[in-house]
Amino acid sequence: MQSAALKQLGHSSLAGKTALVTGASGGIGRAISFELARRGARIVATGRSRSKLHVLRETLNGEKTLAAAEHISIECDVRNKDSVRDLCAQSGSVDILVNAAGVSRDGLLVRQRMQDIEEMLETNLLGTMSLCRVVASGMMRRRAGVIINVSSVVGMRGNVGQSAYAATKAGVIGFSKALAKELGPRGIRCNVLAPGFIETELTRDILQNPVTKALIEGVPLGRVGSVDEVAHAAAFLAEAEYMTGQVRVYVTIVIVIVIASHV
Ligand SMILES: NC(=O)c1ccc[n+]([C@@H]2O[C@H](COP(=O)([O-])OP(=O)(O)OC[C@H]3O[C@@H](n4cnc5c(N)ncnc54)[C@H](OP(=O)(O)O)[C@@H]3O)[C@@H](O)[C@H]2O)c1
Repeated sequence: MQSAALKQLGHSSLAGKTALVTGASGGIGRAISFELARRGARIVATGRSRSKLHVLRETLNGEKTLAAAEHISIECDVRNKDSVRDLCAQSGSVDILVNAAGVSRDGLLVRQRMQDIEEMLETNLLGTMSLCRVVASGMMRRRAGVIINVSSVVGMRGNVGQSAYAATKAGVIGFSKALAKELGPRGIRCNVLAPGFIETELTRDILQNPVTKALIEGVPLGRVGSVDEVAHAAAFLAEAEYMTGQVRVYVTIVIVIVIASHV
């Protein structure tokens, strides 16, 4: 491909790869889907909202990307084991798995409903584990693959009103670190993205909160992040195999990237 054409179409580093992206009907997953597609990956977009997935799939297929096959979308509730199994069966071979599905139900612990706590655990942590469990077995057979799990800076630092959410996101980090050790010898990388505040549906209300506004002032860049900034970091992690062939530490170690977070 000539450089001018590549410039027009984006990078082709992920050409021939299939990326399964959960949470693709939401802000961050959607942006990651576009970024990986621009770099040549065929996207299997998943979420629960049929209409949002439909729009995403049509838009992706309407874009000039370097993907070898059509982008598809499949509805899936990550809390449901059968739904996850069906999704993986329909996805075919997955080279890149991005777990971006997540929910946040904020509130002081003593006032929180167990139902909300369970929903966060089942979606953010168990959902991520469930997808990794099924997809990793195919990757292990092929001795190749990349897993990117989306955690949060809250999982490392904690935050008032987010104890349960923080626990699920801290769980994702511990889980991913262990998984990276299990799967590294089989040529599979597992990394974590831990964004700070990013403007999406998930943060629409809390970004208006005066406490949150004060926290944002403490961010070195003094602003919230954008979904495109997270997507670039995800693409970096997806492509890092090229670099890690030379820098071994990246093959075996979990990278936690904190975007515009507090230091
Ligand atoms: N925005 C931030 O500031 C921020 C910061 C740090 C980390 N994160 C993390 O980034 C990820 C994406 O967040 P976002 O900001 O893009 O939120 P969002 O716009 O609300 O999107 C959330 C996504 O998760 C999906 N989802 C929720 N429950 C699900 C379930 N049971 N089964 C399948 N899919 C489910 C939603 O699908 P449907 O809408 O189709 O149900 C949607 O696609 C989350 O894990 C979040 O915790 C976000």
